[in-house]
Parts: sequence; structure tokens; C-alpha cells
Amino acid sequence: MPATALEQIVSLAKRRGFVFPSSAVYGGLGSTWDYGPLGVELKNNVKRAWWRSVVYDRDDMEGLDAAILMNRLVWKYSGHEKTFADPMTDCRSCKSRPRADHVFQEQKGRDPKGLDEINAAIAAKELKCPKCGATDLTEARPFNLMFRTTVGAVDTGDDSGLAYLRPETAQGIFVNFGNVLDTMRRKLPFGVAQIGKAFRNEITPGNFTFRTREFEQMEIEYFVRPGEDEAAHQAWIDARTQWYVDLGMRRENLRQREQAKEELAHYAKRCVDLEYKFPMGWSELEGIANRTDYDLKAHSRSPENPDAVGELKYFDQEQKKHIVPYVIEPSAGADRATLAFLCDAYDESLVKEPPAEEVTKLRELVQSFAKSVDKKDPKAFEPEAKRRLIAAAENIAAGLPGTLPDLLALSDDADANRIEVFKKVRGVSEKLGEEFTRTVLRLHPRLAPITVAVFPLKKNEPRLVELARGVKRDLQAAGLRAVYDDTGAIGKLYRRQDELGTPFCITVDFQSLEDKTVTVRDRDTMAQERVGVGELGGALRGKVG
Ligand code: GAP
Repeated sequence: MPATALEQIVSLAKRRGFVFPSSAVYGGLGSTWDYGPLGVELKNNVKRAWWRSVVYDRDDMEGLDAAILMNRLVWKYSGHEKTFADPMTDCRSCKSRPRADHVFQEQKGRDPKGLDEINAAIAAKELKCPKCGATDLTEARPFNLMFRTTVGAVDTGDDSGLAYLRPETAQGIFVNFGNVLDTMRRKLPFGVAQIGKAFRNEITPGNFTFRTREFEQMEIEYFVRPGEDEAAHQAWIDARTQWYVDLGMRRENLRQREQAKEELAHYAKRCVDLEYKFPMGWSELEGIANRTDYDLKAHSRSPENPDAVGELKYFDQEQKKHIVPYVIEPSAGADRATLAFLCDAYDESLVKEPPAEEVTKLRELVQSFAKSVDKKDPKAFEPEAKRRLIAAAENIAAGLPGTLPDLLALSDDADANRIEVFKKVRGVSEKLGEEFTRTVLRLHPRLAPITVAVFPLKKNEPRLVELARGVKRDLQAAGLRAVYDDTGAIGKLYRRQDELGTPFCITVDFQSLEDKTVTVRDRDTMAQERVGVGELGGALRGKVG
């Protein structure tokens, strides 16, 4: 069963060392996250797979790593100083600060045409605060999302040292267009790829790592002759969609959404969003835009831009004249892609039926939990949370034992944990979960944080330990991420590696000492085969691809 709630992913991520709340020892900093030992491997693998696909596997791409801090004029002429803003409103009643366009979209079922339409709806009391339901919202106003900082040791109090933490990596590519062109002697069409941090002071970050204020982008600017832009755009839309599918993402969870004319950014001729069906609903994974010649012109010297030192253009040998290329921009988020791969890979299922009397006991506990929620004073417990918990408890009680994974997911729900009887529900469900359910991350072998885990059948048998450690070392030397583990019985170690997404486990047993073969167990089929120690590296590398 795939993840039905983001909490399942958050819980696994925390429990197994993928992602931790940032600076937790001081109470955290809202919506900032640290990638732990497993998470950093997964995210690095996502970035590596992207780089390989868009740089190494093609003949028309170069890489770049531009600075985060750039001359402020970059952001003036890119348009970000003026237009990179989201409309926000304040609720006078509960003091929350939602994004006004999101409130409009959610409550009217369509995007607003602009700030005026949002404000007309607020004035007419047609929009409610998403947190408390009051219609007492202030006029929406634009809020610039760029983080400001000061360059140099002295803060002069004016804006002379002002710089921004870049809100996208794209501009670093545009302003380096001439450098790449000159040094790499490229002909159109060609592109530049870059991975790097971006920062946005988002009004409403949230949904785990989906929307944060510090994140990583994987962006391409692909330069083409005007007139060849539409075909190149379509080719990139297809290629980028296929990248996710080739790395195991289920096609039915991925869709292409054509942006409507009124949604398009001022620079875009066409934009297609690749969306993933996250547990919270279909949401953007990557945007693929045709930005025309807007950016190269914006950073070229002209009456509108007297600050630029020259022009960003290309001498077209065929036409014997200078032209300004059009740009196709596939812009993905490394954190969002990582989250989407995690959600897609998550699989929790019942492996065998628990005894009937234990199921009956658990069902009664869940029913009494639903009753306790129902009895809670609405002043102490939000009606929306009550409705949600009661519906979840009724569904779970009706479907046990099959709904045991859903019940385990509920263990991370802060509202559920405010109900006294839920402690008992948790205790029983976790005990049954331990014995009767299996959580597997079915990550593509190229993305899995650990490719292969090696265990000795017995940890107190030195000859097995020595051979197992040697196998681990050889696999690591062969370029495969390998770990050694002897901290539990083999069954328990398999379970643990399943939860981490490790595609292959190797057990070294007494037969191994005699014939130098080991058991290789496949995470997905659970099939086991004996493979010679000498052939392991080649066999596994072939499977990773
Ligand atoms: N250069 C174009 C650009 O930046 P965008 O749609 O604003 O376009 C591109 O961002 C991608 O960056 C998004 O599809 C998403 O994957 C990622 N992204 C944007 N804002 C983000 C945020 N606050 N947190 C995490 N990822 C974000």
C-alpha cells in the first residue's frame, strides 16, 4: 500500500535517518530540515542521476556552478526586485498570515486574475481565513520573497551593501551565457545545467520538504534559434517526464499540466508543469518553460539596461548575423524530486494475519478512541481535527487487520496523540505492526541510499565476520555503496534494510567458507540466489545500471 499521508513519510524519514527537523535542540526553526545519513545519500543520488541524464548522456550540454551571491543588478534587471512577490493577507481574528492567492484558489476553485480581484473578494467578505474561518482579512499586498543580506563588514544603514540570497539558480546561467559560449565553443542548440541552493522567504512553507525557504534546484537553460524553440520545448517536456519514469516513478502518479495563459509568468510563451500525486494532492514537481529571449535581452546593454557591460547574443554562421537565442528552461527541485521518489517508493503491507482476538481487542480500542474524540469539547479540539480523526478511526476499525498500516501512520498525528486512550492504541498497533507488517521503500537501485548490505550469519564466528567484511570492502571498491551489519538476526536485518530501500542483501554463511558463494536476496521479489564472491560486483553493478 503506498503512502496515504505525508505523516507516514515524515515518520519514516525521522525514524530511519533520512530527514530531521533542523536545529531541534533549540526547538527547531519552522519548515527547515536537515538531511540525515540516509537522506543525504538519497538526495545525492537524485542529483547524480539528473546530472548524468542531462549532462553526460547528451552531447549538447555543459555544467555550471555559479555563486549564490550575485550583483544586486542581476535581480533588478531580471525583474525579481519588482515582481518576485506573493500576495499575502492577515487574519485580524487569529493573526495568521495566509497567501491570498491560495485562499482565493482553494475557496473559489480557480486562480485569481490579479491582486484587484483578490481584494474585491476580501472586501465582499467572500474569502475566509483557512485557519479560523473568519472573514476579517486585511487587504492583500505583495510580499517580496527574496532574502536580503549585506555584503561587507560595515552595515552602512543604506542599501549600498545590499545583496540577495539567490531565489533561483537560473540567473547565474543567463549571466554566464557569454562565458560558456566563448570557452566551450558551442553552437546552437546547447544548454547549461546547474544544481544549487536557492532561497525564498515563502509566506506559507510546509508539507515537509515540499515547500521550504532554503532548497535546491536542478535547472537547465537550453538555448535555441528562435523558431526552433517550440520543438525543443516539447522534446524537453518528454525527456524530463521520462527521466522520472525511468527511475521507477509510477506513470499514473505523474502528469503534465499545461499552464493557462493567465498563469504564465510575464517572460513565458508556454509552460508545462510536471506534477506528482503527493499524499496531499497533485502538486508541481518541475516547471518546463519557454522563456523566449527575455532573459538574455534583459541582461544586455540597452536603453532599458544602461548598467550591463555588453550584449548576450550569438553569431549565427548560417545567417551571418547576430541573434538572441530563445531559452527553454526545465526547472526541477532536488528536494521535491527526492520527496516524490520517497512517496512513490513507500510500500507498507500486512504480511500475515494477526490472531483474531488481538484484532478484536485493537478494533475495540480504536472505537473507544473515536468515542473519546467525539466527546472532546469543540473549544479544546478543532472541529475539523475531530471530524478527520473520527472518520479515520471508523475506516480503520471497519478494515482491520488490513488497515493496520493506516493506524500506524496515525501514530504520528499530533491531534490523535492528545487523546489519552490513543496511547493504548499505539502500544497494541505498534506491537502488531512489528510482527505482521512490512514496510519497504521500493527505490530504484540507482537512487537507494545503500545499494547492498552484507551480513554474517553469525556475528560470533570470526571466519564469517572476516569474509563478510571483505565482501563489503570489495563491493565498495567496485563503486557500490555497501554496508556491513551484524547487529541482529538475519530476518531483522532484512526488515531494516527493506525500510531503508536497500535493493540487495548478502548473507555470508558456512557454505560460503567452503565454496566462496554467498546468498543474494532481492528486496522486491525476496528471491534468494547463490552467487560467487568474485562475480558479485559485476552482477550487482549490472542490476543498478
Ligand atoms: N527558474 C524558474 C523557477 O525557479 P519555479 O517554478 O519557481 O521556477 C522551480 O521553481 C522548481 O523549484 C519547482 O518546480 C520546485 O521543484 C522547486 N521549488 C520552488 N520553490 C520551492 C520551495 N519553496 N521549496 C522547495 N522547492 C521549491
